[in-house]
Amino acid sequence: MAAPKRIGLLTGGGDCPGLNAVIRAVTKGAIHAGVEVVGIEDGYLGLIENRMRPLDYESVSGILSAGGTILGSSNKANPKAHVTGRDDEGRPIFSDQCDVCLNHIAAAGIEALVIIGGDGTMAGAQSFVELGVPCVGVPKTIDNDIVGTNLTFGFTTAMTIATEALDRVHTTAASHHRAMVVEVMGRNAGWLSLHAGVASGSDIILIPEIPYTVEHIAHVVASRSKKGKRYTVVCVAEGARAQGGTQTIDRNDPTSPDPVRLGGIARVLAGQIEQATGIESRHVVLGHVQRGGSPVPTDRVLATRFGHAAVQLLLQRDFNRMVAIEGGQLTSVDIRVPGKGQRIVPLDDPLILAARDVFTSFGDDVTFA
Ligand code: F6P
Repeated sequence: MAAPKRIGLLTGGGDCPGLNAVIRAVTKGAIHAGVEVVGIEDGYLGLIENRMRPLDYESVSGILSAGGTILGSSNKANPKAHVTGRDDEGRPIFSDQCDVCLNHIAAAGIEALVIIGGDGTMAGAQSFVELGVPCVGVPKTIDNDIVGTNLTFGFTTAMTIATEALDRVHTTAASHHRAMVVEVMGRNAGWLSLHAGVASGSDIILIPEIPYTVEHIAHVVASRSKKGKRYTVVCVAEGARAQGGTQTIDRNDPTSPDPVRLGGIARVLAGQIEQATGIESRHVVLGHVQRGGSPVPTDRVLATRFGHAAVQLLLQRDFNRMVAIEGGQLTSVDIRVPGKGQRIVPLDDPLILAARDVFTSFGDDVTFA
């Protein structure tokens, strides 16, 4: 059978540096192969509300280095459970909008979908696969936590931004003899904090995979001070938690398929360190700064390779796959794979071992005098 003549393209979930580079690669690659591209606005929301526009060469020209997504995104829209009203107590009422989406897809003459997103967006793609719409996935997230791929575009940019911030905080920490606690994103995975923490030479790195104790952290801060190193930089993942404790939640959004928004751990921890050591402590939350702005060159390259690979899968009619990187090689996995959970840092990750060997503390029992 022939390749699809017209495809739909959407970006779902939180934005991420490199989305536009993928949109450009998919659109130009499709045009090159004689395939028309329809851009769907705001992720699955645009499919539900029938907001689409044709993408031509001009509309994707000059966007390679631009942050965000020219199509817009939504991290709430879920075709299977879309908020269509509120009950008497103000609670959201959900309804299945898959048939509505199917009608819009058919009316637009779309024969296949390219879905750029994280684990939630890939799980959403399942609904369309099951309804017979061929899909190809492209994994994105600054968290680097998608099962099935070793690397996602956006991660290296976010890690670079976090590293630069940690470097800058170092100088203030040293000048004022303080403990500085910097909160890095990443949801339940510690990839971003582990890599930015190592790259910046942070003294303590706290990740969700290794629960800490305040005692161990305070011990490191105090013993550094005694040795004349009168400052400590702590890189803490937003999802980190104390041994026997729970994660710090900033808010709950019941309209989102992933309602928990983490945040606030750095503030809590800075207070605890100051109380336990008497050393002045401050906190910084990097937040969405890590997701904003232009992608670094390696993310532009990865996004372009992913976009190109997605078009090749469509042309070969190798549907219902997600493009991926495994062992440095471009490959693809069944699109159901990323919906199976989150990829977290294994405790024997070589970077954890390397960090421990340069006397970095993870706030756990393996702490140095
Ligand atoms: O998944 C990307 C991410 O930036 C996470 O690191 C963070 O926990 C979450 O999204 C924040 O979501 P929101 O943009 O809804 O606040």
